Amino acid sequence: MDKKLILAIETSCDETSAAVIENGQTILSNIVASQIKSHQRFGGVVPEIASRHHVEQITLIIEEALLEADVTYSDLDAVAVTEGPGLVGALLIGVNAAKAIAFAHDLPLIAVNHIKGHIFANQLVDTLTFPLLSLVVSGGHTELIYMESEDSYKIIGETRDDAVGEAYDKIGRVLGVPYPGGKHIDQMAHEGKDTYNFPRAMMTDDNFDFSFSGLKSSFINTVHNAKQKDEELNHNDLAASFQAAVVEVLVSKTIRAAKLKNVKQLVLAGGVAANQGLRTALEKAVFEELDEVELLIPPLRLCGDNAAMIGAAAFVQLRNNDYADYSLNGRPGLTV
Ligand code: KG4
Ligand code: ZN
Repeated sequence: MDKKLILAIETSCDETSAAVIENGQTILSNIVASQIKSHQRFGGVVPEIASRHHVEQITLIIEEALLEADVTYSDLDAVAVTEGPGLVGALLIGVNAAKAIAFAHDLPLIAVNHIKGHIFANQLVDTLTFPLLSLVVSGGHTELIYMESEDSYKIIGETRDDAVGEAYDKIGRVLGVPYPGGKHIDQMAHEGKDTYNFPRAMMTDDNFDFSFSGLKSSFINTVHNAKQKDEELNHNDLAASFQAAVVEVLVSKTIRAAKLKNVKQLVLAGGVAANQGLRTALEKAVFEELDEVELLIPPLRLCGDNAAMIGAAAFVQLRNNDYADYSLNGRPGLTV
C-alpha cells in the first residue's frame, strides 16, 4: 500500500494536540500543548477553562504539526479526531476543527475513540498482535479490554467506582502535591515502604472488576486520624503503601485475565501506564507467570494524552473506510 498520511487531533481533556502519522505507525510530528498550569490552582481540570485554551491553541498546534512533519493539507489522506470520551466542551473544539479541515480540503473525516487511541499508542513503537488483553488505566478509566482483532473490543472488567488516575489525584491533593498527583505519588512511593497495609479490594472475586474508592477512603481516614492525634505521618510510606495496594490489585487481576483469555500480548495503556511501580511489577509478573505472552508498555512520552495515538487508531478505520460525516458531535460518555 502506498503511503497514507493522517492529520490527527486530540482535545478530550487538558491537552491540545495535533499529529501527522504515516501508515498508522510512524510519527512525523506530535505536538502536545499542556494546560496543566492553568488548572493546577483549582486542584483539577476546570472544563470551561479547558475549552477556552483549546480554542486559543488549536489552530496554532495544527499548523505546527504540519510544519514539523513538513507536509501541507494537500499531502493528507484523512483528518482524524477524538470524538469521546472526554469533556464535551473540550471535545467539540477538536471535532469542529477537524470538520472544518475535512470540508475545506475535501478530506475524509475519521472519528476516533480516545480509549482505543491509548491502546494504539503502542502501535507507534511496536506491533499489536491479536488476540490481546489491554489494561487501560487513565484519569477517567480503568478497564481490561479484550481484543480479538484490530477492530474488536470487549470490556471484560472495569472499575465500579473511581478510576486509578482519579484515586491518585485525589490522594495527591490530601498530601498537598500539585495536580495531577499521580506522577508525584509515584516518585514519593519510590522513597517509601509499604507500611500502612491498605485494603486490596476485590482481589479474589470471581470477576475482573476493580474498586478503588475503599482504598482512597482508607487512605484519607488514616491521614485525618493522624492529624487529629497530632501524629507524624511518613508521606513517602503513605504513597508507597497506596501504590503497593493499587499495583497488586491491577497486576493480579490482569495476569489472571490474560491466562483465562490465552492472549498473545498484554498491552498497558493510558496516563497511569507511566507509573514506574506498575510498569516494573507487570514486567516481573509477565516474566514469572505468563509463558509466551509479549508485554507492550508505551514509552513515557506516549502514555499521556496525545494526538499521535489517535492517528494510529484512525489508520485501522481508514483501511476499513470507516468514516464520519459532518454531523459528527462530541460524545462525552462514549465507550469502546
Ligand atoms: O490518559 P491521561 O493522560 O488522561 C485521561 O485520559 O484521563 O491520564 C491522566 C492520569 C492522571 O490521573 C495522572 O495523575 C495519571 O494519569 N498519571 C499517573 C502517572 N502519570 C500520570 N498516575 C500514576 N503514576 C504516574 N506516574
Ligand atoms: Zn487519556
